[in-house]
Amino acid sequence: MADLLGQLESLAMGAREASASAADERALEELRVRFLGKKGELSAVLRGMGALPAGERPRVGEVANRVRDQVEALLAARKASLAGAALEAELSGPALDVTLPGRHLAPRGGRHPVTQVREAIVGVFQRLGYEVTDGPEIELDWYNFEALNIPADHPARDMQDTFYVDEATLGPGEQKGDVVLRTHTSPVQIRAMLRAGKPPIRVICPGRVYRSDYDMTHSPMFHQVEGLCVDEGITFADLKGTLAAFARAFFGPGTRTRFRPSYFPFVEPGAEVDVSCTICGGTGKKDGKRCGTCKETGWLEVLGAGMVHPRLLANVGYDPARHTGFAFGMGVERMAMLRFGIDDLRLFFENDLRFLEQF
Ligand code: PHE
Repeated sequence: MADLLGQLESLAMGAREASASAADERALEELRVRFLGKKGELSAVLRGMGALPAGERPRVGEVANRVRDQVEALLAARKASLAGAALEAELSGPALDVTLPGRHLAPRGGRHPVTQVREAIVGVFQRLGYEVTDGPEIELDWYNFEALNIPADHPARDMQDTFYVDEATLGPGEQKGDVVLRTHTSPVQIRAMLRAGKPPIRVICPGRVYRSDYDMTHSPMFHQVEGLCVDEGITFADLKGTLAAFARAFFGPGTRTRFRPSYFPFVEPGAEVDVSCTICGGTGKKDGKRCGTCKETGWLEVLGAGMVHPRLLANVGYDPARHTGFAFGMGVERMAMLRFGIDDLRLFFENDLRFLEQF
């Protein structure tokens, strides 16, 4: 018995020394296994109890229990003091540097400048009470030309040479030349009037259009916004007031407008509309030098407009004696170039991030 009690005593001493020098939680776990585990030192001592006379066993059992409790307490105390020291070290170490730059997030997308400008244009007219509408980009010749008073042999077709859809993709009953990629958003005038059935109509129609052009200021695909207002008693004065209000809202409060007589087959009278130059304020001079943006004229051409031709109203079954209206159309890329000071329209379609990230 004295032998076993001696073993228990030295086990307790060994555990005290070992736990005092354990460096971390893993070392403590190893000690727990070594002293208290199934194959550990305490179990080995207890196995020796079998050889003792029955009367001596309770005494040894009692001491063994006490030693086990002691070792458990030693390990727990060491674990607590290691944790305390770790916290102390962290608190007395260098503080968190909140001035470090943040971590980079994935680059964020943005709206294309053409989209931004289209939304700005449409937004102005929505606030004036216009409803947004649209029509197909693959359009019937009838809507794109005929119904707009541009018959097949009309010279105005030359200004808007386009892409014709070939036989393979035509629908039943359609012939070569019947289906085109629309050259302007004006066919939506016809569609909107037919859709509404009768005036009043106030619609704004943004969309893609196509022409066989390609240079600094033209691309085979570009965007327009068409406006149409038809009701009783609509006059040219309403057109002027509306576009002047638009120009001030889009280009700034000091912007002036000028109407020059012009010809579009679907309006009468027709006009080209200029705004005072956004760069030189209409003076033609910038810092004492010639303003390149308006070529010293002080004016920038921004859109086409006019009173809806009576023949269009008749084409959709309206009564031109009772109803009048105005229409206008503008190029979105052109407006974006003026707003952002961009000199080559093709930049919009190259998808170069160095360009797009500037908006
Ligand atoms: N559709 C014409 C163009 O593309 C613009 C326009 C629209 C002119 C409406 C007058 C009225 O050039």
